[in-house]
Amino acid sequence: MSAKYVQPQNNGCRVDKLRADVILRKILQQGRNAFKRPDRYANAIIFPNLALMLACRQISLTQFRNYIFEQFSFNKNITGIYGRNGSGKTNLLDAIYYLCFTKSSFNRPDNQSVKDGYAGFRIEAKFIKDEEEKKLVCILRENNRKEFSVDDEMYQRFSEHIGKFPCVMIAPDDVSLITEGSEERRKFVDTLLSQLQHDYLEQLIAYNKILQQRNSFLKFAAERNSYDESLLEILNTQLLEKGNFVYERRLKFLKEFLPQVLQQYISIANNDDKLILEYESQLNHISFEELLEQNLQRDLYLQRTGCGIHKDDITIELQQSNFRNIASQGQRKSLLFAFKLAAFEILKENKGFSPVLLLDDVFEKLDEQRMQNLLQYVCVQSGAQVFITDTHKERLQQAFMKIGKDYDLIEL
Ligand SMILES: Nc1ncnc2c1ncn2[C@@H]1O[C@H](COP(=O)(O)OP(=O)(O)OP(=O)(O)O)[C@@H](O)[C@H]1O
Ligand SMILES: [Mg+2]
Repeated sequence: MSAKYVQPQNNGCRVDKLRADVILRKILQQGRNAFKRPDRYANAIIFPNLALMLACRQISLTQFRNYIFEQFSFNKNITGIYGRNGSGKTNLLDAIYYLCFTKSSFNRPDNQSVKDGYAGFRIEAKFIKDEEEKKLVCILRENNRKEFSVDDEMYQRFSEHIGKFPCVMIAPDDVSLITEGSEERRKFVDTLLSQLQHDYLEQLIAYNKILQQRNSFLKFAAERNSYDESLLEILNTQLLEKGNFVYERRLKFLKEFLPQVLQQYISIANNDDKLILEYESQLNHISFEELLEQNLQRDLYLQRTGCGIHKDDITIELQQSNFRNIASQGQRKSLLFAFKLAAFEILKENKGFSPVLLLDDVFEKLDEQRMQNLLQYVCVQSGAQVFITDTHKERLQQAFMKIGKDYDLIEL
């Protein structure tokens, strides 16, 4: 399979003028951060895009999904990727995602990303961060061992990488964030918070580990028809400590974040549709300690821990009913974008530069006007490097032309 490079037709000085305006606005917007980092601000005036955005400039894929070996360069800040169904558009975006998160955006084992009939894969990319070039490499060895390095330095723990190269992906299946069970929303919050606060991820990993140990303990207790009280107490103490930490962080974060999601929704939908978003946790009503005590007999009977922060959710109400039951497709899409764009904004604010934006097949889901609004936001206001896939070359071209910014198109 070959990848063709298509040169876009740009409309010269119009692009330059718009670009200059955007750069100026970005520098002004970043003024607050700039004072904290005077050296960076000085460079930002000379190389505004480099200083304020994370950018992936080159990537090579070896034995990754449908690619045997392929290399791509991304010289512009907007890249449109088009090709027929199954041509590898999502796989290319997912490779970028892999390098930001050390894993796929799909919940699949790493070895499923190895090209059929081959052993192991390698993804290598050049990113620009804080004006410096960084080489990121993710390798899955033939024995299924994963290695991840930045500038040839290997991580001992992959969690150390999370948040250093932030990205936000919007893909068609993401609507499960709205339509499916609470696990999807917890995963969303955890992914976002992990990128913002490193200790959050560590505590969450520890919580899940202890939760598993406690569940094994409960199973063992059921088999034996008896249990070691002092061991249960140790497990409970550890679970409480980690659980309360995660709860406090989620509570504080969602208090700020959910109103921002609502704000984004209003600007996408032009009204609030009487939407209410709330953080729901058993710990809102009773302490974790009491909860564990009250649920002990039930836990022993069911052989698993039925209470704790692994049951948290974000409840979504529309006109006083469950959003999932009554929302139209358009309302669902609008809310999905609201969640993602609010996540992008909070990452940008926190990091002091724009995360990479990966938009997979979003056009399929939007009418003309909403598509233009979204493009205007992601290609102009966001100040981010953005990748957008579509099956229709013309649709991409026309949309970019209207935006009037410099872009590249890649055909797969
Ligand atoms: N492990 C693998 N080995 C070989 N091919 C794979 C592997 N995993 C996925 N593929 C192939 O990758 C292709 C799907 O790629 P991808 O999802 O990126 O396509 P796409 O261009 O996004 O398509 P669409 O427009 O339908 O979304 C399929 O043809 C699939 O068979
Ligand atoms: Mg796809």
